[in-house]
Amino acid sequence: MERGKIKIDLSNYLSTESGVNFRNHQDRAFSIVSSLYKSKTDHTQLTGWLNLPHEEGMYTEVKNFLSKIQSEDKYEHLLVLGIGGSSLGAQALIESLNSPLWNRLSKGKRKGFLTVDFIDNLDPVIIRTVLSRLKLDQTLFVVISKAGTTVETIVPMLIAREWTGENFYKQCVFITSKNKGVLYEVAQKHSVPIFPIPENVGGRYSVFSPVGLLPAALCGLNLDEIRAGLLDADRLCQANDLKINTAVTVALSAFFSYSAGKNIFVLMPYSTCLRRFVDWFVQLWAESIGKSKKGSTPTIAIGATDQHSQLQMFNEGPNDKLICFIKINKHKRDLTIPDYTSENPSFRSYANFKTGQILNIELDATKRALTENSRPNFTLALPELDEYYLAQLMYIFEVATAICGNLLEVNPFDQPGVELAKRYIKEALNK
Ligand code: PA5
Repeated sequence: MERGKIKIDLSNYLSTESGVNFRNHQDRAFSIVSSLYKSKTDHTQLTGWLNLPHEEGMYTEVKNFLSKIQSEDKYEHLLVLGIGGSSLGAQALIESLNSPLWNRLSKGKRKGFLTVDFIDNLDPVIIRTVLSRLKLDQTLFVVISKAGTTVETIVPMLIAREWTGENFYKQCVFITSKNKGVLYEVAQKHSVPIFPIPENVGGRYSVFSPVGLLPAALCGLNLDEIRAGLLDADRLCQANDLKINTAVTVALSAFFSYSAGKNIFVLMPYSTCLRRFVDWFVQLWAESIGKSKKGSTPTIAIGATDQHSQLQMFNEGPNDKLICFIKINKHKRDLTIPDYTSENPSFRSYANFKTGQILNIELDATKRALTENSRPNFTLALPELDEYYLAQLMYIFEVATAICGNLLEVNPFDQPGVELAKRYIKEALNK
């Protein structure tokens, strides 16, 4: 059965943004895509993430590890230690797709999969609270760092080591670079299993390596569906046809709007479940595009919540934003609104609608209001929110980000501004 597609609706965009000429720029964008894909197996380039959907062996290894954990039946909890690209992708996948109260479900309701917590900061309140709430002897620790030396990852690991005791490393798996970094050395010394992060996959593009896939699998997400979504997205992202290639269209729209003075790029899904996905996108876009004094600042907004907050600014503040809406055509587990007209006649307008349906009506109304005020916006619509479509959406944004960086003539795969601060932190700690 052929599945529905993620569709882009540019109609409001074309009527609100000036200086848009897709035809004049599409060839350049297609040739960027072609060079990105040509280098995907070149180990000196950071485009290895484009090859991840094809790495069947990696999927097998993650699934084998999951089977081992399930057959041992030793663990109840998963604690992921990592930061930035070594955390946000897994958070995005799991929090978008699992129940918001996943950790409160019984083991049976979780079908034996693990509860999950992430520590991605040094905030002592968070570290203490998470560690004191978990049954540490039943916790699997997944420690993720490509450099293998990141302070915000190593420090919580050391605290967890102390709180857990001698068995700590027996309960660990590391996802890190092979042959370098402190994590690698510790793994050698204490026989901790390692999932390698390929050298040509950068942190923020690593969600579909074991960095995102292993935590996702341990929390019950369907890897075959993720992979199916990625393989389809991989094909669509290479098409030299704007009607098919959504990544190119998103990249060109962001590029035109930035060139026309829209310094802010708002990503606004109409779903609270996608909140972490937007956090992931913010990091991807900011670290990839913000260079050489160029780049639009990514901003989080959630519909309908932000209609009662940031919308005023979007609609009547400075016209310096491009808004990308994410619509879910069919909301999962939608709720029919009961008819209580008898209790108050005003309730009639809600009767028999579904809540997700009203959310989408509100989205259309917001788009209309913004468009009337000449505020550029476009919409990506997902048939539904599941592994297949979320993986596609994330892959499309990865490709769009890489294309946009190239259009702006910045390197979307380095992060010199971040590295500098990391060096100063090290200096201060070693004084
Ligand atoms: O995208 C990136 O490269 C960064 O956000 C890294 O993921 C982040 O700094 C964590 O680095 P590491 O995985 O080396 O600990």
